[in-house]
Amino acid sequence: MSATARKTAPNAQDIRAQKGGVPLVSLTAYTTPMARLMDGHCDFVLVGDSVGMVLHGLSSTLGVTMEMMILHGQAVARGLERSMLVIDMPFGSYEEGPAQAFRNAARLMAETGAGAVKLEGGVEMAETIRFLVKRGIPVMAHIGLTPQSINTLGGYKVQGRDDQAQAVLADAHAVADAGAFSVVLEKVPATLADRITDEVAIPTIGIGASVGCDGQILVVDDMLGFFTAFKPKFVKRYADLGPLAEAAIAEYAAEVRARSFPAAEHVFGDQAPVKGPKA
Ligand code: KIV
Repeated sequence: MSATARKTAPNAQDIRAQKGGVPLVSLTAYTTPMARLMDGHCDFVLVGDSVGMVLHGLSSTLGVTMEMMILHGQAVARGLERSMLVIDMPFGSYEEGPAQAFRNAARLMAETGAGAVKLEGGVEMAETIRFLVKRGIPVMAHIGLTPQSINTLGGYKVQGRDDQAQAVLADAHAVADAGAFSVVLEKVPATLADRITDEVAIPTIGIGASVGCDGQILVVDDMLGFFTAFKPKFVKRYADLGPLAEAAIAEYAAEVRARSFPAAEHVFGDQAPVKGPKA
């Protein structure tokens, strides 16, 4: 079913069932007003740990905490009725092992109402994904470029080119076999993304991957032109709202300094003239 025709939010099984069907639509969100704007247009909305870079000015996602994810997850949940909420597990909240991952995933879901968690990693995370899924936690996997590992990957480079392709393919099979209901493919060559999409039974969600993926995701502030620190090649700016917002702020500043704001229509009159002696 298309997201706009829905009356209620899909769940992980609904998302999984869309494999090979109408492409899944997804964006990130971090606040209630933005979630309201995308509700019903997106099949699922991701509270990404990109929140650290996009809203908090961090230089990577590594400083994002459970508390930040929960606060933004709760805000986004208030804005959604017809799109599923998926929440990222932040760096350091799941890598120690399945028990740590379960404790933190359960907390994220209980405190935000998210229907699933997303975590980064392939073969090395398969055991954890299996553990979570068997205990009632739907998991979206994230392979290819995994930004929480930039220090070992050596930067935000394309993953899976040439002789690296087999490793990314093995990651895709490992997370699908472990029970993930979908997998994000970030910054992998299109031919590899297409091969993974053909070979695995779960939907692939591309970001810098291929139009042939089962769905696409973008960071909302990137596609609206609010995040201007840098623009990855895979981002299409559907609007350029950053400069528009700055122009509006500059106009407001000029009007306040010129005493032309507030104007008569923005201020309140008395019901009756003020009587009595001047103080
Ligand atoms: O944190 C995030 O926004 C993400 C998406 C880019 C997939 O993981």
